[in-house]
Amino acid sequence: MLAVDDPGPPGRLPGVSLPAPTSENRAVVTGASSGIGTALAEELARRGYSVILIARRGDLLAELSQRLTDRYGVTAEVRAVDLSDRDQRAPLAAELASRDIAILCNNAGVATFGPVAELDLDFERAVMELNAVAVHDLTLAVLPGMLSRRGGGILITGSAAGNMPIPNNATYAASKAFTNSFSESLRGELTGSGINVTLLAPGPVRTDNPDQDEVGSKVPEFIWVTAAYTAKLSIDALERNKMRVVPGLISKGMSVAGQYSPRALTAPIVGAFYKKLGG
Ligand SMILES: NC(=O)c1ccc[n+]([C@@H]2O[C@H](COP(=O)([O-])OP(=O)(O)OC[C@H]3O[C@@H](n4cnc5c(N)ncnc54)[C@H](OP(=O)(O)O)[C@@H]3O)[C@@H](O)[C@H]2O)c1
Repeated sequence: MLAVDDPGPPGRLPGVSLPAPTSENRAVVTGASSGIGTALAEELARRGYSVILIARRGDLLAELSQRLTDRYGVTAEVRAVDLSDRDQRAPLAAELASRDIAILCNNAGVATFGPVAELDLDFERAVMELNAVAVHDLTLAVLPGMLSRRGGGILITGSAAGNMPIPNNATYAASKAFTNSFSESLRGELTGSGINVTLLAPGPVRTDNPDQDEVGSKVPEFIWVTAAYTAKLSIDALERNKMRVVPGLISKGMSVAGQYSPRALTAPIVGAFYKKLGG
């Protein structure tokens, strides 16, 4: 049972601000080896947090770790883990449950395009495991500790794609519907607990992922925002316990339209666009 009627730590307004960085506590970032995750890790280190960097590519995490330590003087631990693999994830979750985790950024995620029946079904299962089940697992791992310390921040990277049905992107859209809903529901449960929960639900964010070349050519340039801007906005929002952050004016507008337009109308329109990406 979560204790949610607690006024929070003395000297801090309930639900506002984050635990200050200490030599003991850590900010955890999943998907830290590229894109938004690297930017989140950099933003947290810049604010003085020592970090735990998680992704599969340990070499990239090691480079980032060195850079963050050199630049900001923080400790940066590396965990090379495939989060879609339950056997690899379990010891990581146990470790996080036993540590002083000030901030958890559940950010790792991948997308697939095309009719789900034509895609690799094992990979589709792995996408669900990574984008949804791992987010649930790691959040549940850190929650008891955050509740007992009466402080913490949980950032969940969902997506504008989670706001609506998207044919030809079905697994991704559904997995992000989970993250969007889980984040905003959890935030409601934790009101007054001292734990902030913010959903990052971006539209297009420019990263160095080569997969973006295909999408990039079909999405107008003015809609894109940078990963660094997204990361700064996200940690600012988490600090203020904002429910949802959507970087970029155009994406904000599209997010509202996606949430409130009739789904029977949006599904075929959006599906036709994603069909071009699925090729
Ligand atoms: N960029 C956008 O336009 C956009 C828009 C909306 C939402 N998002 C969401 O933002 C998050 C970050 O996306 P991004 O654009 O920054 O993508 P990215 O550059 O491709 O980064 C994805 C990260 O997830 C990690 N990852 C992938 N599979 C993993 C696995 N099985 N186990 C552990 N880590 C894994 C990758 O590291 P390894 O390959 O080293 O494991 C990488 O660090 C995702 O959740 C994505 O859905 C992005």
